[in-house]
Order: sequence, then structure tokens, then C-alpha cells
Amino acid sequence: MTFKDQSIKQNDITPEGLFNDRRKFLKLGAAAVVANSAIVDLLAEDKYPTSNLMYKKDSNPLDLDLNTFEQITSYNNFYEFSTSKDIKKLVHTLKPNPWSITIDGLVDKPFQVDVRDLIKKFDLEERIYRFRCVEGWSMVVPWVGFELAKLIQMAKPMSSAKYVRFETLYDEKQFPDQSRGVFGAIDYPYVEGLRMDEAMNPLTLMSVGLYGKTLENQNGAPIRLVIPWKYGFKSIKSISKITFVDEEPLNTWQRANKREYGFYANVNPEVDHPRWSQAKERVLGKFFKQKTKLFNGYEKEVGHLYKNLDLKKFI
Ligand code: MTE
Repeated sequence: MTFKDQSIKQNDITPEGLFNDRRKFLKLGAAAVVANSAIVDLLAEDKYPTSNLMYKKDSNPLDLDLNTFEQITSYNNFYEFSTSKDIKKLVHTLKPNPWSITIDGLVDKPFQVDVRDLIKKFDLEERIYRFRCVEGWSMVVPWVGFELAKLIQMAKPMSSAKYVRFETLYDEKQFPDQSRGVFGAIDYPYVEGLRMDEAMNPLTLMSVGLYGKTLENQNGAPIRLVIPWKYGFKSIKSISKITFVDEEPLNTWQRANKREYGFYANVNPEVDHPRWSQAKERVLGKFFKQKTKLFNGYEKEVGHLYKNLDLKKFI
């Protein structure tokens, strides 16, 4: 990117202690029983985090090949810290607990709530989604969260509410690039938006975790949006405000460069970025590129939302 000038089938609850049990098991000395492939598998998995969320597992009906926790948490876009992908060591300034989120605008029931209290209001579920960045790389992530539609229903939007606008927290102490003002990489706060029907679509997720664990700072702790059929920049991180509005919000990347980035940002292999093709993508960790799918493979679920829209024009 350039800046400035230029489906749940299974109902089983995740055994929260699974990872802990495995560690206990290893501590008990079971690892000494060598040449047992089950134990080798367990050791290989040990790089995954200790689950601290209760959620319904996704049965992964599409049999997607998940990226590792390490990959998902080590290659990130979060300009509030840096334009580098390697931001893990910079993100300690972000303090996601406590974290207040405000819901306001054209709603009957505006409210402000701490994210920990908000999470208690919903049953969390895992969603294994493809995630495609506009830059041409992609990954498969087991997010944990709840449908944005549920939060919208709580706020009771008025009929005049046509769009939802999201904002990342503005706090120069927590996000170092924000204090650089006009010399920052992009304008802050980071803003995104969705049409009401996009926001209400069951695929649209408010994510609070991945791999069963609360989000790492670099992935947008404590709460972020995930819209699997759109380029990753729509999936705004560390949200502090959700506002219901009657006009299409001007999202950060459109504001930075409207020739290259639009409001919709639907994944589309036939509409190239002005400076590169979008026909293929490189999955993190894989050598060969794969073909990019229209709506990132979610056409069945969301294609109807755009039947009257010229996808070449409304990028
Ligand atoms: N949200 C904020 N606030 N700031 C950002 O720089 N980058 C976006 C999106 N959300 C970004 C953001 C982009 S370009 C991508 S591809 C995804 O976050 C990356 O998410 P990930 O780091 O969890 O893979």
C-alpha cells in the first residue's frame, strides 16, 4: 500500500483446558515415552497459545489449511505502530484492558461499554476465514468473536441509519505513529465503514481472539472487525467507536488515495490495483501463488449484496 502523497456446524464447546492439559501431560514426564507419534504431534502444537476464551468450535467445513499462530501474529499491518510488518516488539504501548467502546449516532439505544463486559453478552464462536490483503498476500485465520449484527440489534438503529462507521482509538501514548501528526504514515484515527446490509451479514465478525486466545496487540486487541470477502484494510483494529450514520463514511485508505482504494474493497481477481494484478495471491508460508477468488470465495454468501453495483467502478 502507499500512503499520504502518493460457518458453524459443530456445537461443541472448546475444551478451554486442552492446551493446559497438554502441558501438564508433558510435565508428568510422558514425553519420555519416545517414538510415540501422538506425543510428537503434541510437541509440534506446543507453539500454540493457551486458550483463554470459551467458544463454539468451527468444524472447518471448507477444510481450509490454517496458518500458524506464529505466522498470523508475526506479519502484520498496523500503521499506528509502523509501516513495517514486523511490529511485534513495538506493540507493548497498546493497553487493551480496560477498553471502552462507544456505540452512538442514529440509534435508539446508544451505549458505552467495556469490551470485557461486552464479550459476556454474547456466545463467542470460532470462524475460520480466508483473509486477503490488498497487497497480494493472504492467510487463513481461526478468529473468535461474535456477529456484528448482534451488537447492531442491541443498539436499535433508526431507519435513517444507512451506514456504520468504525474508528480506531486515538491515543498518541498507545499508538506512536499518531503523535507524528501530518508526518504520520496515514491520517488518524483510522476509519472504516460498511453499508448497513454488509454490516448485518452473518459473515461480518467482531473478533476478540484467534486460536482460542484473546487478540494479540498486533492483531488489533482487544476488538476488531473481520470482513472475509473484503480486502484486509476494511478489517479495522482496536475499535473504540461505532457510529451509525446516513452517509457513506470516508474510510482511511480512500482518503489517502482514492484512485487506488475505494469504499467497497471487495476482493476481486478481475479488478486490478492500479499498480499490480489482483488475480493471484501468496498464502503466507506457501511458495506458489494461488488464484484469488471473487469475494474471496464467499460469493454464495454475499454476491447478492452487489448485484446492482458495477464492481469495476465501485472499487
Ligand atoms: N486497522 C488499523 N487501525 N490500522 C491499520 O494500519 N491495517 C489494515 C487492517 N486494519 C490497519 C487496520 C490492513 S492493511 C490489514 S491487511 C489488516 O488490518 C491486517 O490485519 P492483521 O495484521 O491482523 O493480519
